[in-house]
Amino acid sequence: MPVRSLRSFMSPVSPTDALARALDRIRPSVRNEHPYIVGGMAAPDVKLNQNESPFDLPAEAKAALFDAFLATPFNRYASEQPHRLVRALAARLGVAPESVVVGNGSNELTYTLGMCLIEPGTPVVLPRPMFALWGKVVNLFGGRLVETGCTEDYGFDLVALEAALRTHRPAFTVVTTPNNPTGRTVGFDDVRRLADVCAETGSILVVDEAYAEFVPDTPSATTLMETHPHVVSVRTFSKAMGLAGLRVGYLVGHPALTAELMKSRLPFGVDPMAETVALWCLDHAERIETIAADLSERTQALYGDVAGRGVEAVPPAANFFLLRLPGRTGRGLQDAFAAEGVAVRTMDGYPELTGFVRVSCGTTSENRRFLEALDTIRSLA
Ligand SMILES: Cc1ncc(COP(=O)(O)O)c(C=O)c1O
Repeated sequence: MPVRSLRSFMSPVSPTDALARALDRIRPSVRNEHPYIVGGMAAPDVKLNQNESPFDLPAEAKAALFDAFLATPFNRYASEQPHRLVRALAARLGVAPESVVVGNGSNELTYTLGMCLIEPGTPVVLPRPMFALWGKVVNLFGGRLVETGCTEDYGFDLVALEAALRTHRPAFTVVTTPNNPTGRTVGFDDVRRLADVCAETGSILVVDEAYAEFVPDTPSATTLMETHPHVVSVRTFSKAMGLAGLRVGYLVGHPALTAELMKSRLPFGVDPMAETVALWCLDHAERIETIAADLSERTQALYGDVAGRGVEAVPPAANFFLLRLPGRTGRGLQDAFAAEGVAVRTMDGYPELTGFVRVSCGTTSENRRFLEALDTIRSLA
């Protein structure tokens, strides 16, 4: 058999040029973005930087769930969607199962909404400062992002938001309540008013309720859906439920809307073990309510300890709050806490929050360590 020389297999294009051409194929809206990186400390003693629950599932619960783990056939596909969890959530919320979409964390549902609602140039109005993923998704899908500002006390400027809705008639807008990163809320009457405006402008109103369990007396946006079927609520098991590591979130909306969203869903996206653990949490709703109430109280107490020291801090509504020290950047403060073994998160990336760090509530001993670190940092300044 004739042997061809290696040269005859080689492409006339150099690897460098081939890679440059491959990179040119990546959509500009993706190339202009940055990967999502939490940053900060690798293994902090005290981790207060991601608004997580400091409470893991009890060991007995994990042991009980271990039987389910052993009984799960890893070689078989689970059902396309986590139907057991969908049914349980629907029953809990008093909605039809068709209204519920479960995702691999609520982040994934943010992408689903982006994929279904945004074409290049589609207007989307977002109030600031808000959980950064929403803006990122708008940019990734090539939407036209219109942002409105905040009030002096870091709440959303609802007057500006309403005006922007009327001017731009966006595909959708999002309000987060309680809001991350500010910890401020949007009252239920204001949510209803925004829903009315969105009905007029033909926009979907997404209410990100990731921290809803911390404000149990505020009605959920899900209660508006009968009269306002263009309202969608996004929720998560990552915060009060304490399952950030397992990735379970859900969206509640009118069945006609969710039926469209379902067309873009990947099958098998939620791990069956994560589904089982989420079901366990729903079966132990009282435990979650107690934890959420306890964390809310501790967060208020911690905020009180900080404000009581004369430190500028933003009053919390969930399990975290913002603080800053004069003459310090957020990044400098994050590093100073890191030097004390405490992970907090700089907010310098938000122009209206420069200098702030965000602190999540920890256990009693973690909160004590945080306060000691704060005192040390202040004494060194
Ligand atoms: C307002 C808000 N929405 C959504 C999420 C994402 O949650 P999940 O872990 O379910 O993706 C977060 C997480 O920090 C958040 O703060």
